[in-house]
Amino acid sequence: MADPWWKSAVLYQIYPRSFQDSDADGIGDLRGIIERLPYLVELGVDALWLSPIFASPMADFGYDISDYTAVDPLFGSLADFDALLREAHAVGLKVVLDFVPNHTSAEHPWFRESRASRDGPKRDWYIWRDGALGGGKPNNWLSEFGGSAWTYDDPAGQYYYHAFLAAQPDLNWRNPAVRAAMHDVMRFWLGRGVDGFRVDVIWHLIKDDQFRDNPPNPDFCAGDPPHRRQLPLYSADRPEVHELVRELRSVVDEFPERLLIGEIYLPLDRLVKYYGRDLAGVHLPFNFSLLETPWDARAVARLIDRYEALLPEGAWPNWVLGNHDRPRVASRIGQAQARVAAMLLLTLRGTPTLYYGDEIGLLQVAIPAERVQDPFEKNVPGLGRDGCRTPMQWGACAFAGFSEVSPWLPLAENFAGNNVACQGADPASLLNLYRRLIGLRRRRPALRRGAYRPLQAVGDVLAYFRETEDDRLLVALNFDGGRAALTIPSPGTVMLSSSGDRAGEDVVYSLTLRPHEGVIVALGLGRTEPTSAN
Ligand code: GLC
Ligand code: MG
Repeated sequence: MADPWWKSAVLYQIYPRSFQDSDADGIGDLRGIIERLPYLVELGVDALWLSPIFASPMADFGYDISDYTAVDPLFGSLADFDALLREAHAVGLKVVLDFVPNHTSAEHPWFRESRASRDGPKRDWYIWRDGALGGGKPNNWLSEFGGSAWTYDDPAGQYYYHAFLAAQPDLNWRNPAVRAAMHDVMRFWLGRGVDGFRVDVIWHLIKDDQFRDNPPNPDFCAGDPPHRRQLPLYSADRPEVHELVRELRSVVDEFPERLLIGEIYLPLDRLVKYYGRDLAGVHLPFNFSLLETPWDARAVARLIDRYEALLPEGAWPNWVLGNHDRPRVASRIGQAQARVAAMLLLTLRGTPTLYYGDEIGLLQVAIPAERVQDPFEKNVPGLGRDGCRTPMQWGACAFAGFSEVSPWLPLAENFAGNNVACQGADPASLLNLYRRLIGLRRRRPALRRGAYRPLQAVGDVLAYFRETEDDRLLVALNFDGGRAALTIPSPGTVMLSSSGDRAGEDVVYSLTLRPHEGVIVALGLGRTEPTSAN
């Protein structure tokens, strides 16, 4: 049987508000994405994942949905969505939607009905509890966006649970009617032809049936988000969640060749459980560990080994380098290392996910107080996510070609010198490095589906083989600003350097890396033993 498409795909996350505005309201939209499909084809990615485009009061920018089967007018119409799907498919791009099953908007008709009285039919669709004896919240659970996760609600005089904003009440997934309604939402979109879902906060879906207090987190550090004061032992990652995930998967499997991705922030040993028994869970539990590991060759080497070792038999790995919730990679590790990171992402074993703009090294943008949008920043200053959600920089023209008017979030100051137009014209740009890496990945079986084997290396070099029976590559990445030399097991030819200029160079047993350089070498196929770096 042929491998499913998503195993050899490069996924590209679009934050629709910030990709391309087509109707001059300063906010990106679906027609804007259609205009930019040729760019995505040229970049070489295979699938787009769109952050939520559904009807929403936008308290959390679309992660608060008031109608799961309607497109928010800000982004366009259902007809625009169908057009996007059709045009994307016509140029060979898959489209993956964001599915937000853990919570709705407080303005969803289900919640309006639920909150209206204690004995209405929708009461049990959400999580309602009486206050603790003697008054106060039902338990100590904290919201990820600051403060208690419980909000008192008149007129029925109970508290409801929200893992995020009070404007995002959690659904009660113990209720079979909720499950059935949400499965139908999935069928609605799958039936329209979408190629899969990225499921928002999937590990939160079900909570302890006894609502026990969470214990304190002994590892809490000053500067951590406030909810980290607790270990979310009872409010997330409950054993029952796996049954729910299995059900979501079986809905997806009613349609051929669809992809189910889970958003999961958990330690690797718990993360891999979401592949499910017999791999009947999500196809890809998003692996965010590169976002959370210090940018250090040894730490990353250990991380890869650990992840590879923990993967269940037959499970397909995946790697994420950036998203709309985390600081931009080019700011976090620096622009020189962003090139090394690109090579890492696109040469590791497993499906890579690229966040829009990271291919041109978009920087984290400092947002002036009066322009802050993110509710998280408003609740917990300093931790907001606006800085990684700024408009795509297409050109040096007004508003970077994103919009004809001032965009909803400020552009990075460097946009006139850093944009798709100028990077496209510069063979040595990060954008062209991404294009070459994606192209190479497409051409070389070793990169698409080969085994991963570490080459023992020390210091600031991370080196590994990717190999199939008849294709063998060595990837060597210099995580630092000094030169480094690496002994390699057999002679080969440089396929690609992150600096763009060494293709075709013969390397004979020793490879020298320049500062911040990554190199991919095609090796001869003779059997050789790994040696160490020096
Ligand atoms: C996920 C989303 C994030 C959102 C949260 C609540 O973590 O990625 O942007 O705020 O869920 O839905
Ligand atoms: Mg618009």
